[in-house]
Amino acid sequence: MIIEPRMRGFICLTAHPEGCAQSVKNQIEFIRSKGPIEGAKKVLVIGASTGFGLASRITSAFGSGAGTIGVFFEKPPAEGKTATPGWYNSAAFEKEAHKAGLYAKSINGDAFSNEVKQQAIDLIKADLGQVDMVIYSLASPVRLHPVTGVLHRSVLKPIGQTFSNKTVDFHTGVVSQVSIDPANQEDIDNTVVVMGGEDWKMWMDALKDAGVLANGATTIAYSYIGPEVTEAVYRKGTIGRAKDDLEATAFKITDSLKSLNGKAYVSVNKALVTQASSAIPVIPLYISLLYRTMKEAGVHEGCIEQIQRLFSERLYKGEEVPTDESGRIRIDDWEMRDDIQAKVKELWAKATSENLSEIGDLEGYKQDFLNLFGFGFKNVDYKADTSEMVLIDSIKG
Ligand code: NAI
Repeated sequence: MIIEPRMRGFICLTAHPEGCAQSVKNQIEFIRSKGPIEGAKKVLVIGASTGFGLASRITSAFGSGAGTIGVFFEKPPAEGKTATPGWYNSAAFEKEAHKAGLYAKSINGDAFSNEVKQQAIDLIKADLGQVDMVIYSLASPVRLHPVTGVLHRSVLKPIGQTFSNKTVDFHTGVVSQVSIDPANQEDIDNTVVVMGGEDWKMWMDALKDAGVLANGATTIAYSYIGPEVTEAVYRKGTIGRAKDDLEATAFKITDSLKSLNGKAYVSVNKALVTQASSAIPVIPLYISLLYRTMKEAGVHEGCIEQIQRLFSERLYKGEEVPTDESGRIRIDDWEMRDDIQAKVKELWAKATSENLSEIGDLEGYKQDFLNLFGFGFKNVDYKADTSEMVLIDSIKG
């Protein structure tokens, strides 16, 4: 079929398998160009199909030669209906990994469930024995709690008072004022249940109890802080409470991994266009101004550049892992540089529908968004008849 983008709000309903494969290949090429990283050799990535998780899987495999098991929740293709991008990304990843002689298998299912955790344990036991690194990179709007059976929904709201600020519809470039009512306690609790640390701890406990964590095993999850302009809706909002909980969980996991000489880390990453971040109000406007500023300063990075730097300059540098006063690894250091933030703040005050394409990087935002779904790559022939029925090597059907 001829596959074209079909945009609906902040999602695209279609994905291009060749474009997704191109995106994966570009990321692999980047990692190869940077040279080897002395990292973990057996890696479990939870949330492995898009964004930071995919970049982590690619960096582990092609930077450190690791065998990887990827867990994700994606829709496979059906005749006449494309899969979600994470499916095609994972199909391409496995193909490239196998070509390079690297072990790679995937599990498509709900990572919050006991069943998927058990599947991962069984697969580790059967194929790898143990893992020495667990990357936790889930971003989900809902979580079916495996113990209570309750379906929790996260919300993106401020806490305490109504938040009003500018936002942009990145398809049209229209800058408008958005007003978001504050969350109630139930909203806060639900968001913490979905995006906080409980499930990460459940994974690590299950893996440890099953004896599939190697001595010295480490685990890492991703967090975000960001600037003042997004604070009310991000770090001091409901999602921020979940990130506080995630960050606190790292210490609990480190405690429980002591008998294995293991350790849990949180890395604070840079704001980037992913399926998860496009859904957060205000963030797209911030990102378009940030991209412009960071590109001009020559310090712009995408997911793959961020994770390559996280692995080579922080986690596996061969020195003690540098952290901030709260014990977090900071790879958002370039985003948070004083000069970058001062410039973004100045642009923020000026931004209107009329000038955004000039002062912000709306084009860069749109390009990245298209790329997430496998569209907008120069060397892909989008006019060509393309099979949507691309399967993942290790998942049959
Ligand atoms: P993403 O939307 O690109 O990736 C989410 C991944 O989670 C996908 O692999 C998806 O299949 C998987 N997933 C979602 N629900 C699942 C479920 N129930 N079971 C199994 N897999 C499931 O998201 P992104 O942006 O890469 O986020 C990953 C982490 O990085 C999140 O913790 C996010 O808060 C954090 N982060 C994101 C930043 C950004 O600007 N995008 C900045 C800093 C941190």
